[in-house]
Amino acid sequence: MDQLTNTPAWRALAAHRAELGDVRMRAQFEADPGRFERHTLRAAGLFLDYSKNRIDDRTLPLLLALARERGLDGARAAMFAGRRINNTEDRAVLHVALRNRSDTPIEVDGKDVMPAVREVLARMGEFAEAVREGLWRGYTREAITDVVNIGIGGSDLGPAMVCQALATHGHPRLRMHFVSNIDGDHLAGVLAGLNPARTLFVIASKTFTTIETMTNAASARKWFLAGGGSEADIARHFVAVSTNAERVAAFGIDLANMFGFWDWVGGRYSLWSAVGLPIALQVGRARFEELLDGAHAMDRHFVEAPLEANMPVILGLLGVWYRGFFGAGSLCVAPYAQALARLPAYLQQLEMESNGKSVTRDGQPVDAATCPVIWGEPGTNGQHAFFQLLHQGTDLIPVDFIAPLAAGHGLPDHHRLLLANCIAQSKALMVGKSADEVRAELGAAGMAGEALEALVPHRVFPGNRPSNTLLLPDLSPAALGALIALYEHKVFVQSVIWGINAFDQWGVELGKQIASRIGAELAGEPLGAHDASSRGLIEMARDALA
Ligand code: F6P
Repeated sequence: MDQLTNTPAWRALAAHRAELGDVRMRAQFEADPGRFERHTLRAAGLFLDYSKNRIDDRTLPLLLALARERGLDGARAAMFAGRRINNTEDRAVLHVALRNRSDTPIEVDGKDVMPAVREVLARMGEFAEAVREGLWRGYTREAITDVVNIGIGGSDLGPAMVCQALATHGHPRLRMHFVSNIDGDHLAGVLAGLNPARTLFVIASKTFTTIETMTNAASARKWFLAGGGSEADIARHFVAVSTNAERVAAFGIDLANMFGFWDWVGGRYSLWSAVGLPIALQVGRARFEELLDGAHAMDRHFVEAPLEANMPVILGLLGVWYRGFFGAGSLCVAPYAQALARLPAYLQQLEMESNGKSVTRDGQPVDAATCPVIWGEPGTNGQHAFFQLLHQGTDLIPVDFIAPLAAGHGLPDHHRLLLANCIAQSKALMVGKSADEVRAELGAAGMAGEALEALVPHRVFPGNRPSNTLLLPDLSPAALGALIALYEHKVFVQSVIWGINAFDQWGVELGKQIASRIGAELAGEPLGAHDASSRGLIEMARDALA
């Protein structure tokens, strides 16, 4: 494939960016009453307003030409057809099969994967309902009250984020806990309040080799045995979610209590698989299936909608536009929903572990900037912290605002103010405030002369700062499923433009290898060769641990 910046579409976009210069969105809105209508989309129950972007009528056709030139149609078809598009691991990429709610078979190497997907889903549902109904009991015959998911990365962030988002749909008896960090404070803090006889552990690890998860799981088992449970009781209190039956059995978990998935499910794309077991436990089988339905509706939209009206395509291309032609190094995700507090952390793994790469699928350097840093916090909290920089800082940082139109908390005044703030922030970022407007405002407040002029530069807002606003009807499982699938496909679209394999993660390996060696050295093995900094730090840690 051609170097990206040499392609005709990229060169046309570069010329267009130069022509566009500092065109003001504010002026574009004033001149064009149809801008909102033309730059909004509905899909799978979601509404996207992308009109507050630095684009004119030529921008999207040029971005779409880039998508076509980079083979987006073919790449998407290859993913849905179960081709081995994860080329460095020689794997298919089929998280879409996990939420394939149609009768259409999906094949990997000529074999339909759907019967196995449905079988695990049915077992998960039965198990979740048994725990929820109090039929699955602990060793004292009491019902389970606490579920502790032990996993990290994709085996933690997805289910943790969704369980928090759907907490209002939770079972009144069941409390969900998530332990990921190797820091003992995490496990100890969660276990401190729990009774082993009423606690169910879900050990979630695709590989069942991840050091954090294995260490936390081993300590949880010791805690369980020390707290009154016997070896024979482990089967009622420990279940596993993994692709690695051998390791699960070696850990001592009954394979009857293992929920499997497959190598074609990437960790960060796995919440739709058995990794979603905590979600099913929390909200029940039917609502877990609604989450899948929402994601499936977005999958159908991604496959069927023309590129120019395709929500993941538009979001992905806008991201490429700012990264490639405005030098935007980060994207702020601001959910105006406290329940979505973990969404930015979830998206950090989804986007940055997928596209945080600098070589193409065939190992050549990517000659354009790739994945931006993803970060954010719920609104309105962020407004009283980092929004200062979004409005008046030196960097251009696009923002994704995300808000549910309806809330279920019964505090309508709060929701009105929440939505008002969400809309106000995207407007303020876009319109800004000119020096003349500041002068008029200060003058009206009774200021004049030098005192007024001294304040003007501090109170000017440059504006013209882009954002998308995504509105959900509410925080239902279906809307959430569609939202997550939207971002998954956006990431895929961007990977195709940049020519990246979005489904491997070799960049996490080096640190793991070195940590394993240093771990042995901290346990007493002789020190190997180290740079002076690392050696000094290891010696300090050894002294502290002695
Ligand atoms: O270290 C990165 C990573 O491999 C992620 O890609 C993955 O989601 C996480 O670790 C956990 O892996 P596992 O589910 O195999 O424990």
